[in-house]
Amino acid sequence: MARIAIIGGGSMGEAILAGLLRAGRQVKDLVVSERMPERARYLGETYSVRMATVAEAVETAAFVIVAVKPADVESVVSEIADAAAQAESDTVEQVFVTVVAGVTIGFYEARLPAGSPVVRVMPNAPALVGAGVSALAAGRFATPEQLAGVAAVFKCVGDVLTVPESQLDAVTAVSGSGPAYFFLFVEAVVDAAVANGLSRAVATDLAVQTMAGSAAMLLERLDSQRAAGEDSGLDTSAARLRAMVTSPGGTTAAGLRELERGGVRAAVAAAVDAAKTRSEQLGITAE
Ligand SMILES: NC(=O)c1ccc[n+]([C@@H]2O[C@H](COP(=O)([O-])OP(=O)(O)OC[C@H]3O[C@@H](n4cnc5c(N)ncnc54)[C@H](OP(=O)(O)O)[C@@H]3O)[C@@H](O)[C@H]2O)c1
Repeated sequence: MARIAIIGGGSMGEAILAGLLRAGRQVKDLVVSERMPERARYLGETYSVRMATVAEAVETAAFVIVAVKPADVESVVSEIADAAAQAESDTVEQVFVTVVAGVTIGFYEARLPAGSPVVRVMPNAPALVGAGVSALAAGRFATPEQLAGVAAVFKCVGDVLTVPESQLDAVTAVSGSGPAYFFLFVEAVVDAAVANGLSRAVATDLAVQTMAGSAAMLLERLDSQRAAGEDSGLDTSAARLRAMVTSPGGTTAAGLRELERGGVRAAVAAAVDAAKTRSEQLGITAE
């Protein structure tokens, strides 16, 4: 089985490591490089995984996953490039995978050995509990088989889909920042519930379980539509379910009218626009 190197053992690196092990990948096929000694010790002890320098980790890896903060990418990629150049004689072609927000495929292609396959991934925080969604964008030298290999890795921490790289800022604004939008909504529901006499504990249980249950209903609908081959109109699922739970003249209709009056749709649209613009501003390109 292909050896996978994870460079950067922070929260996302650990999530990927834990997901791969959960999915049955063998510890002998994984190697992690983490520069913070305490963190490296924790990962080594918790997962019984081999910890190594960047150069050692890259040496025998078929997939090199970069999971450091954007500020560390420049130096890490130059270390990886040196190690990859030395490993070039190997028969295994190395695929370079990045989860680093905002750093373009071109940035890696310009620094890695010529023709290196690069796949850029935008995962999100729920990957930490195995329930993420990761958008993959393939560089020009990545083959469909290599992209499928990367998809299999990220399947271990949630759902996976593929988009052109040009859409990753929008993806960041939706699924990357999205968990915070939903957390804010739950927070607001809890506060409103408390204002209406429920204890904070009861309010939190009700709000969280309602969000999880609503997501489960949506997922079931998406799954059955996909199974039936109805890929078009998937985005109408939420509207249909909302209509289904809104009886004429009832409590839900009264509540929804207030949300609309409060401009919830316009606020969400503005939030996604602003997050996308911010993602574009923070981007690090090839130069
Ligand atoms: N967490 C998320 O939900 C999420 C979602 C989407 C994308 N991402 C992306 O994933 C990347 C990692 O995020 P994170 O939350 O896991 O960050 P993090 O917790 O800061 O993890 C990065 C880790 O990499 C280590 N590191 C830095 N340079 C290194 C080197 N040369 N060799 C070995 N290890 C090195 C860092 O050590 P030090 O502490 O010493 O710096 C740190 O422990 C980021 O670029 C982020 O944009 C994260």
